[in-house]
Amino acid sequence: MYKILVLPGDGVGIEVAAEAVGVLKALGAKHKLDFTFEEALIGGSSLDKYGVPIKDEVLQMAKKSDGVLLGAVGGPKWDGVEYARRPERGLLALRAELKAFANLRPVKVLPVLADASPLKRELIEGVDIMLVRELTGGLYFGRPKGIKKLVGGKEKGYNTLLYTTPEIERVARVGFELARGRRKKLTSVDKANVLESNVLWRKVVTRIGQEYPDVELKHMYVDNCAMQLLRNPQQFDVILTTNMFGDILADEASMLSGSIGMLPSASIGGKVGIYEPIHGSAPGRAGQNKGNPIATILSAAMMLKYAFHLEEASDEIERAIVKVLDEGYRTLDIHQEGTKLVGTREMGELIREKLL
Ligand code: IPM
Ligand code: MG
Repeated sequence: MYKILVLPGDGVGIEVAAEAVGVLKALGAKHKLDFTFEEALIGGSSLDKYGVPIKDEVLQMAKKSDGVLLGAVGGPKWDGVEYARRPERGLLALRAELKAFANLRPVKVLPVLADASPLKRELIEGVDIMLVRELTGGLYFGRPKGIKKLVGGKEKGYNTLLYTTPEIERVARVGFELARGRRKKLTSVDKANVLESNVLWRKVVTRIGQEYPDVELKHMYVDNCAMQLLRNPQQFDVILTTNMFGDILADEASMLSGSIGMLPSASIGGKVGIYEPIHGSAPGRAGQNKGNPIATILSAAMMLKYAFHLEEASDEIERAIVKVLDEGYRTLDIHQEGTKLVGTREMGELIREKLL
């Protein structure tokens, strides 16, 4: 029995999570896999109902589950909310509580979508990158942080970019292990020419790299990496980077795949992982059956693989998605002339049909 906690969150998160659950249910029925689902609130929807972006009780439910499937959090409705209760805080608390320190963001260019990318086909064909983003440290969590009043009505806002040796070691090992099972190349991305914490990052990654002599390690500055992702993305296999840089580079890299609506993620390292699309709640598209559920459905596939070790079932979902895309069905974000525009629900339904 696999106990899945579903946290749909806000905006399109609610619609895409429903489609991913539908796919898991269909797959479960087909292979007699005993998936059970619990659902709870996170983000703005939790804030509206309970006054907090995630309840303690929900954090406990997450810890007791076998995997958390998440939609997306946030939206302009909560822009004015004080910092500590913002929807995003719910997600960050969940990541910290589950000790999900390694965030895996695979960027794969499907041949059938190569023309949906704003980049030239020959540049992106065959791109298959695994971005490993450190997720529970760095600038997102470092202390001290805050906004303080200064004399004369001025204020100062500050955050701390902090990494300790063990934090770097454990995420580096995840990166090297993944590289070992892939094309055996790891690019560690930092800003060691400017930031002390990143000097340590580079030093520790280099040391851990010696445990993996079969993996070719390269260091790259983040500004250069941002450029290389557009100039020659085929050079990358595993990219290992810090929390903040990973957040930014993942959104950039998503455009290689055609749309941010295509990119799943798995946040692992603790006992229970979080599986969520990398996109946000897309308030402009929310509630209109317009979002792309593929990133969330692929995240569910990652849950099957990384949490439940159901590789075959996971591959089956990926194959179903490719079949649907091959037949020309597209949600709004990847729609082009000559393809068939469908909504969130229809895309989910088509993928379920292809499982059978
Ligand atoms: C992501 C998102 C989150 C992050 C936000 C919603 C807190 O942008 O998962 O990439 O910054 O980590
Ligand atoms: Mg992000």
